[in-house]
Parts: sequence; C-alpha cells; structure tokens
Amino acid sequence: MESATPVIVAIDGPAGTGKSSTSKAVAAQLGLSYLDTGAQYRAITWWMVSNGIDIDDPSAIAAAAGKPEIVSGTDPEGPTITVDGVDVAAPIRTQEVSSKVSAVSAVPEVRARITELQRSIAASAEQGIVVEGRDIGTTVLPDADLKIFLTASPEARAARRSGELKGSDVHSTREALIKRDAADSSRKTSPLAKADDAVEVDTTELTLAQVIECVVTLVEEKRAGK
Ligand code: DC
Repeated sequence: MESATPVIVAIDGPAGTGKSSTSKAVAAQLGLSYLDTGAQYRAITWWMVSNGIDIDDPSAIAAAAGKPEIVSGTDPEGPTITVDGVDVAAPIRTQEVSSKVSAVSAVPEVRARITELQRSIAASAEQGIVVEGRDIGTTVLPDADLKIFLTASPEARAARRSGELKGSDVHSTREALIKRDAADSSRKTSPLAKADDAVEVDTTELTLAQVIECVVTLVEEKRAGK
C-alpha cells in the first residue's frame, strides 16, 4: 500500500460473525495494527473473578475498575494481552469468563476505563489500526475512516463458535450466544449497535476468505479516496 496516512478501521458485530479472524487478517494484509477489544473486557472480567469481586454487584465492580493494568499487544500476527504483567490469553477464553463478561462490561466505570485505553492505543498506531468490538464505530472511534458491521444468522454463528470451541454442543453454544448478544445489545452504556455510517456485511453465506477480501477492498477504496 503506497499511502502512509494512518487508517482507522472499526469492525463491530455480535459473537461468531468472524470478526476476530477477519480483523486480524485484514490488519496483517494491510500492515496495520490490530486491537481485540473483547479481549480487554474479558481480561478485566478475569481480574474481577480472580480477585473475588462479586460480579452481581455493579458498585463493587465500579469501585475496582481502575485497579488492573491491562496491556494489549497489537501485532496482528501475534496479539497479546496481560493483566498486571500476567499473560491471560488462555484464561480469558474459559466458559466462566464468557458467562460473566457481559455483566462486567455493562458497568459504566469499566467502559470508561477500557474506552480510554482503546482510544490511546488507536491514536498511537503509526500505520493505522483495525479495532474490533461492539461499540467501536458508535462510541470509541466515531471518526473512524471505515466502519464495518458484520452479521450472520444465529445458526451460522453457533456453528462457527462451536467449531472454535472444539466440538462443543451447537445447541447450547447457540443459546449462550443469543443470551450474551441480548445482554450486550440491551445494556444502557454503549450497547452493541451498528453505526449509521457503517457498511453492513452479512457473512452467513460467505467464506472467511471472501469476507477478508471484501473488507480489504473497502479499506483500499477508502484510502484511494473513492
Ligand atoms: O468479542 P468477544 O466475544 O470476545 O467479547 C466479549 C464480551 O466483551 C462481549 O460479550 C461484550 C464485551 N464487549 C463489549 O462490551 N464491547 C466491546 N467493544 C467488545 C466486547
């Protein structure tokens, strides 16, 4: 890519739409940084659980929200995440964290803390960055150069997610995903939502390679000023 102007790409959507695989591949292909904001919410949730904070008590979560130090490595070929210096890449993917992350990420003090972190990471990405999440185009980076909103049918999302979780039951995965989406979409502070100026891509009938190609083309068109 000839242009050296940093480009900011926001990719939002529910779980199982291929957001992470797409965002990482697009960033790698275009030489951009990559930020998985879901991993940050999972990391703060892991810290709350590990430190005995009552997940059902939003005021306890709010009071502790400033304590953990969360550091994200933004190389798309090997993204990393640490909490107080501990590598938490594996523990943040457990069922326990997945079932608690919506409650923790609904607390406004948690969102304020993580949003600030996300904005500073995006601002310091010299070549530009692909940021994936739920509220990136609407709240975190409303001035992003390109906003993508990925969707897929619940069946396709559950099938992909249970494949990732190595053969877990599709039916229970579907139920868990629907429950998490409902919580993420209905919370008061910056819910999962499509920005008015986002390009919606339905990935149900597309392969991962097709979705990546579609997003890369959109970024290149943006950069070319089309
Ligand atoms: O992308 P993921 O499934 O790893 O995200 C985990 C949770 O984090 C998701 O259920 C809601 C929350 N999240 C959020 O509230 N805002 C974001 N920008 C990203 C994730």
